[in-house]
This record gives sequence, C-alpha cells and structure tokens, in this order.
Amino acid sequence: MPKIGNIQLPDFPLLLAPMEDVSDPPFRALCKEQGADVVFTEFISSEGLIRDAAKSVMKLDIYEKERPVGIQIFGAVLESMLRSVEIVEASGPDIIDINFGCPVKKVVSKGAGAGILKDIDLMVSLTEAMVKHTKLPVTVKTRLGWDHDSIKIVEVAERLQDVGCQAISIHGRTRAQMYKGEADWKPIAEVKNNPRMHIPVFGNGDVDTPEKAMEMRDKYGLDGAMIGRASIGYPWFFKEVKHYFKTGEHLPPPTMAERVYAAKRHLQMAIDWKGETLGVFETRRHYTNYFKGIPNFKEYRMKMVTSDDSASVFEAFDEVLEVFGDYEFA
Ligand SMILES: Cc1cc2nc3c(=O)[nH]c(=O)nc-3n(C[C@H](O)[C@H](O)[C@H](O)COP(=O)(O)O)c2cc1C
Repeated sequence: MPKIGNIQLPDFPLLLAPMEDVSDPPFRALCKEQGADVVFTEFISSEGLIRDAAKSVMKLDIYEKERPVGIQIFGAVLESMLRSVEIVEASGPDIIDINFGCPVKKVVSKGAGAGILKDIDLMVSLTEAMVKHTKLPVTVKTRLGWDHDSIKIVEVAERLQDVGCQAISIHGRTRAQMYKGEADWKPIAEVKNNPRMHIPVFGNGDVDTPEKAMEMRDKYGLDGAMIGRASIGYPWFFKEVKHYFKTGEHLPPPTMAERVYAAKRHLQMAIDWKGETLGVFETRRHYTNYFKGIPNFKEYRMKMVTSDDSASVFEAFDEVLEVFGDYEFA
C-alpha cells in the first residue's frame, strides 16, 4: 500500500485535486467525510505568501478533520519558494505539494506552474532545495510535458524521485492541451512501470466514473487516482468509487435530502470560515452540481446563486426540499 513519506495510505487511495477557489477547507472536509484519502489546498502563490498577501495567507487554513492534507504552492524563484516552505510549515500540513502543472498564462509567463516544464533542470533543483528545507514530505503535481513533442515525463519523474520527492501526481495532458481532448494515461503508466520508480505515482485527468477509476488501477496499474472536476458539487464521488471497488455495484445517487443537507453544511462551514459575504459568494459554484438535472429548477437556482445573504440561500434550500423532496436522481 502506498505511502507518502511516513503517511500510510490505503490501497489505491483517492486524492482530492487542488482546485483554485474550490478546494477550500469546507469543501475538503466534505470530500474527506465522503471518502477522500488525501486532500490538497488550491495552489498558493509563493510570492503572495512571502509578501503576506491576505488572500494567500488565508488559503493556509486547515481543519484537523481533513488530515492528511497537502498545501500546494507555486513559484519559480528559489528564495521565495524556500521562504514559503517555512510559512507553510507553520500551519502544520502533512504534505507540501509543488505545483508544476498550472497552464494559465499569468502563472506560466513567470516560469511557474507548467512553465517550468520548459526548464526541467530548474524544476529538479527547486524540488531538491525544498526537500532539503523541510522535514515534511514534498510531493509534485505536474503535467505530461510542455507540449506533445517534449514529453519526457518518465525521465522527469525519476529525477524528481532522486532528489527526494515523495510522490508524484500526473495530469495526463500537456500544457499545450490546457483542458482540451482526453487525458492520456499511457505516459503515466510508463512512469509507474519504470523499474527505478518506487514512490507512489498518482494518475489524474478525467476520472469521472467509478469504472474509470478502476481502469486507472487495473489497466494502467497506477497507485491512486487524483480527482478534480468530478467532485465539484459532488463530494459523494469518492464514496461511490470506493463502493464500486468493493462490491462491483453502483451506489444509488444521493437523495435530495442528502444534497440539501450537504449544501447547507457546505454553506455554513464556508460562512464560519470566511464570513458571510465571501462564504455566500464562493459556495455558489457548487450548487449547479449539487442540484444537477432537476427540471424546472431555474427559479431556485437563481435564488441560490444571486442572493447576497445566507438566510435567503438557506431558505431556497428548504424550499427545494419541500418542492422536490421526492425527486429521483438518475
Ligand atoms: C476550477 C479548477 C481549478 C484548478 N486549480 C488547480 C490548482 O490550484 N492547482 C493544481 O495543481 N491544479 C488545479 N487544477 C487542475 C486540477 O487539479 C486537475 O489537474 C484537473 O482538473 C484534471 O483533473 P480532473 O479531470 O479530475 O478535473 C484546477 C482545475 C479546475 C477545474
């Protein structure tokens, strides 16, 4: 069974992917309750952290109940990354994850995120320096390569392992692909099949059914699956995968009462954590998925996503339960 440093994980662990504005403490806690084995924060700018930017610092918050939790940072400047390691350590995560995969222009143009895939030596030396600078396990999340013609992920993963990286999560797309096309898990399997690799290799990209998670395990032989979009507004996904692994059967989808309960808890935790205004605003993106596919739902959805006060959103949840309580999800 895979281990990240000294953290023992179950067979084929399911990891909640770092997702900007999504993987906050309330959402991570919900995913953890529903079976996620490791959760990660959204990426945090090392330059923001060292300048004490309030938005970056707030992202360091973790709840005890979500452990083991990894804090993900990004950057390309050694001094800033090392100073960030110290700041991150002070909030007591179990893992420090480095983002070498973010494809967005504002990150890549500074040589950070997936930008570093153009400079593998720097990627390796930054990782090595960070490993040496902390007692916490350092992990890396990356993509297959910069573009199709420069995929060297087998070599890159081995070099990262050699400098002390304790696990690697690989999104089966290149930077050039952004989110287009299908994730290709074959190169990830090649990393895993490299006889020199001994750290866990986690697959990422397009795992949105229990069957795909099983394929990642059985056909591609990976050590675990990192799950992103399939969990947004649907934290039950982790439990569904685990049930399928155990029984070969699908769990029935969550009932309306379960969805309303989760949505309420999510909103309440968000308000407790970041206050009424931000809590109400930042939880909105999850509701579409919590209540997906219900006919004639627009009026209620609009109320959920346009109300500025939590009382109105909670009221909308109650109305939904009253009106659609018997709705059967497919
Ligand atoms: C809204 C959103 C925000 C994301 N933010 C991050 C991030 O902060 N750090 C990171 O490493 N990847 C980030 N990603 C990429 C995901 O972690 C993951 O690699 C990608 O979505 C593919 O996995 P999936 O198909 O399971 O969603 C983000 C993805 C989405 C959809």
